[in-house]
Amino acid sequence: MGDPINVLVVGGGGREHALVWKINQSPLVGKLYCAPGNAGTSELAENVDIGAEDIEKLLDFARANDIGLTVVGPEAALCEGIVDAFATAGLKAFGPDKKAALLEGSKAFMKKILSDANIPTAKYEKLTDPASALKTLEKFNGKVAVKADGLAAGKGVIICQSHAEAAQAIDLMMVKRAFGAAGDSIIIEELLEGEEASMLAFCDGENFIMMPSSQDHKRIGDGDTGPNTGGMGAYSPAPVVTPKIESMVEKEVMGKVMEAMKKDGRPYKGILYAGLMLTDSGPKVLEFNCRFGDPECQPILMRLKSDIVPLLLASVDGNLKNLSAQWSNRSTVCVVMASGGYPGPYEKGKEIYGLKEAASTEDVVVFHAGTTLDNDRVLTSGGRVLGVTASGVTVAEAIDTAYEAVSKISWDNVVFRKDIGHRAVGR
Ligand code: AMP
Ligand code: GLY
Repeated sequence: MGDPINVLVVGGGGREHALVWKINQSPLVGKLYCAPGNAGTSELAENVDIGAEDIEKLLDFARANDIGLTVVGPEAALCEGIVDAFATAGLKAFGPDKKAALLEGSKAFMKKILSDANIPTAKYEKLTDPASALKTLEKFNGKVAVKADGLAAGKGVIICQSHAEAAQAIDLMMVKRAFGAAGDSIIIEELLEGEEASMLAFCDGENFIMMPSSQDHKRIGDGDTGPNTGGMGAYSPAPVVTPKIESMVEKEVMGKVMEAMKKDGRPYKGILYAGLMLTDSGPKVLEFNCRFGDPECQPILMRLKSDIVPLLLASVDGNLKNLSAQWSNRSTVCVVMASGGYPGPYEKGKEIYGLKEAASTEDVVVFHAGTTLDNDRVLTSGGRVLGVTASGVTVAEAIDTAYEAVSKISWDNVVFRKDIGHRAVGR
């Protein structure tokens, strides 16, 4: 074994706490840092007061602290080229470079790669002016998804059930420019029906290693009602993803997109996240993300038995071919606890009670997202505050354990869904 490697995790949400938690278990790691981190990461790593998008400062920090591996959680810095900046400085950063991150950064680019590579996805058109967009609507039956081409912090997709709703969405994006430049070009696509699931892979530009399936709960309310959020809970595996679907996704989606990206001069490294709609005619790609999902990362990493650090390094170095990943066959469930009001306006600074009691529950890890330390009190500091994650022999057992831990935690005006994992139990 060589010298220990200092590792920097970039980001401060639940996903990054899970990454810190897993990386911290590796015997290969020397010092572990998280920028900016949260109250949870501060227990395992040294938090560094640099924002996740401040590439220059992150680079200075990595140089000054002999960082051997930087792991980037959120998409914004990846799409801005943080991996390129680090590579130019001779430093290893895990994730796609700017050219490859376009798979998440531009929906139009993603759709083009999909259609060029013949990967199943919703029928679509790309538009750059409102008049032709309105005209194009007539080709669809009114039920469409209108999507801003660029990054819009997860808000740039509007599901429309009628021509009138779609016309409004076009007006909002292209005329009112609600998402700024992200909406200057848009995608209109047919609505797909089915159940959603996600498949992720570690990628090294050429080879990839699949992770087990997962499913997210995007709506704020029980029974999938109310507005979309960043994700109110997740679980793994998603039983709706049968072994047959899994191998279809591996060959027909991941394999093909890796090949297409390489052919396009953008070999894909890092995490490739495929958001899928499982339709009657097979899995179709809804979106690609260029990073771990949050909260999908939490239940997935809880199942990873292998040391994650060699996988991350091999992705950067193009060596995944010689590795494999071992996964626990237990089920894992993450229940997100959020600030009342989220995803709308919410109050911060509420003291959180019961964290120690919850964390001492067997088979539970309480991942922090929007939390901050005030001496020895832990306060809320974001919309999604905690991701209480549990494992069990069955998904039902994992759900019970997660909610047992959730019941021990409280703060003023906390909200969480009561039905995380319900679809999996039905199967
Ligand atoms: P996206 O960011 O493209 O994944 O869209 C966000 C969410 O909108 C997805 O997770 C789906 O729930 C929904 N969605 C997007 N595109 C479609 C589509 N073509 N048909 C049905 N639902 C969609
Ligand atoms: N949970 C969905 C995402 O991270 O994009």
